[in-house]
Amino acid sequence: MYALAFDNEFARDVRAGLTCAQKTLPCRYLYDDVGSALFEAITFLPEYGLTRADARILQTNAAEITGLLGGCLVVAELGSGTGAKTRPILEQIGLRQDVLYYPIDVSSVALEHCERELAPLGEIVPLQMSYLEGLRDVVEKRQRGERLLVLFLGSTIGNFEPDAAIDFLTSVRQLLARGDALLLGTDLVKPWAQMIPAYDDPAGVTAAFNMNLLSRINRELCADFDLRQFRHVARYDAEAQRIEMHLLSRRNQVVSIQRAALDVEFLAGESIWTESSHKFRPDQLTAMSRMTGFRLERQWIDEEWPFAESLLFAD
Ligand SMILES: C[S@@+](CC[C@H](N)C(=O)[O-])C[C@H]1O[C@@H](n2cnc3c(N)ncnc32)[C@H](O)[C@@H]1O
Repeated sequence: MYALAFDNEFARDVRAGLTCAQKTLPCRYLYDDVGSALFEAITFLPEYGLTRADARILQTNAAEITGLLGGCLVVAELGSGTGAKTRPILEQIGLRQDVLYYPIDVSSVALEHCERELAPLGEIVPLQMSYLEGLRDVVEKRQRGERLLVLFLGSTIGNFEPDAAIDFLTSVRQLLARGDALLLGTDLVKPWAQMIPAYDDPAGVTAAFNMNLLSRINRELCADFDLRQFRHVARYDAEAQRIEMHLLSRRNQVVSIQRAALDVEFLAGESIWTESSHKFRPDQLTAMSRMTGFRLERQWIDEEWPFAESLLFAD
């Protein structure tokens, strides 16, 4: 009866995550076509100040950022989404040379949108790949004399557990050459009352983004999650400095996921942990840069919504 089981990575990851003591699902699976559209909507919510803070810093400081990087610059962006915030960086580069930009993302709709919007600025080469796979591809395509500026914006680094973030940035550094740079966006620790609504807005857009993961499992893995029997929860763990998104079972229930060959039991109140968003203090970014083989060259902080953009040099 489970003839199609395990025929893809998603099925394997769902099975592995939902058979752990704390049920969990990797957050990259939030971004199918529907999830990417919902994330885009989240970035417009009044409660979600991150994107506007990130965009303000880039808009205001693009000339200074690119001015700190001489030579022939090539831009690669990890988890670019639609790349909307990157426009001022590419515009500045366009004033001095031809633009070459590699947006890297798992979402095809986000990449299509990105290419359509930014094509007038220069050569846009979308790579539908995972972060490091995409960056490896960019490094292989690099021509002599080109300098890489890697963007990792939107505090996406906060989705990694702290040790995994260090391993990830170390891997990025190892792919780069001396003189390359990483522009890293990180959301800073701020009052609880400001952070929670950014992940649990009253209009329910973030709840829909989270819930869509269950719909995706229903669609792609022939499962029978009843979405009305789950609810979205966002909580802050102050010690770990992270917002956690969970999907909480409203009652005892069993869900069948055919293509993962799995029947999952849920107790009332039990959750699936779907995403962590770690928050940072500026001094932690200096330490993280050092630990991963980078040097923190400059940092810009948005005061309205505490958010840091850090320019790390690969020396
Ligand atoms: C939090 S959103 C940030 C989007 C954009 N950079 C911004 O700042 O608004 C994370 C983005 O990373 C993409 N993504 C998630 N996991 C990924 C992975 N493992 N490899 C590549 N892209 C990934 C998602 O599709 C999404 O576009």
